Amino acid sequence: MSTIIPLAAVLGHPIAHSRSPQLHGHWLARYGIAGHYVPIDVSPGNLDDVIRTLPKLGFVGVNVTIPHKEAVLGLADLVTDRATLIGAANTLIFRKDGKIHADNTDGYGFIQNIRQGAPDWQPKAGPALVLGAGGAARAIIASLLDVGVPKLVLANRTRIKAEKLQADFGKRVEVIDWIQVGNQIEDAHTIVNTTSLGMVGHPELRVPLDGLRPGQLVTDLVYAPLHTRLLVEAAAAGCTTVDGLGMLLHQAVPAFERWFGQRPEVDDQLRAAVLK
Ligand code: ATR
Repeated sequence: MSTIIPLAAVLGHPIAHSRSPQLHGHWLARYGIAGHYVPIDVSPGNLDDVIRTLPKLGFVGVNVTIPHKEAVLGLADLVTDRATLIGAANTLIFRKDGKIHADNTDGYGFIQNIRQGAPDWQPKAGPALVLGAGGAARAIIASLLDVGVPKLVLANRTRIKAEKLQADFGKRVEVIDWIQVGNQIEDAHTIVNTTSLGMVGHPELRVPLDGLRPGQLVTDLVYAPLHTRLLVEAAAAGCTTVDGLGMLLHQAVPAFERWFGQRPEVDDQLRAAVLK
């Protein structure tokens, strides 16, 4: 009897920068699973063909990243409610009956990362302040509303993008001008940077941070560098801080479990493997 070796992949364009192969590779080795996880560069024009071919080659599922996260919704037979709400998927499961199931675990990863790093965090205790209204922001907003933030103040350099999100997510979202961010920090209970500011090769996040105070939870989706200016200043002001690497690690947990049948742990060894 031949043993089937399960395969999984991350599809993106470009894809060389992805840390997902190290992440899933670490878990496969750690749990002794005879599977493989590979990066595949897929241009948009080939996405449909590639996704329909992979199950025939032994793939049990894939992650999708930029620029395919929205397009895969149209290729899937089943889309979870949270992926529909976010308007994008990051995980596909190729089911035995041939159906393609699309999910978005980014918001789950975001919340789990905070819960692990700051177990005392009470999202309902006060407003959240979210910086940025790009691709990453939708999953963050959906997940913060889902865990019960009473109000979500949203600021983006291009205000109209924030207003579009407000129209999609409803009354708990309040849009402010980017220039007003500094004035809103003091009142926020949870502060999240979803912009690319502070990332290696990008400009620094230069909003006034003197409103930071103990009791606030501050997290940054940027994880290169791990200790962004926002997180360093927040820690110095006595805030609880959670870095962005954990979101990447936690979003992968449900996918790995569905594909390979083992719920994996997010721990320091995994962090070290991914940072290598
Ligand atoms: P992602 O999909 O990772 O969220 P994105 O869609 O390009 O990436 O969004 C990047 C975010 O960083 C956006 O909110 C962007 O603001 P705009 O919508 O105004 O472009 C924000 N951003 C990027 N550079 C910025 C800058 N110099 N100042 C303020 N915000 C910036």
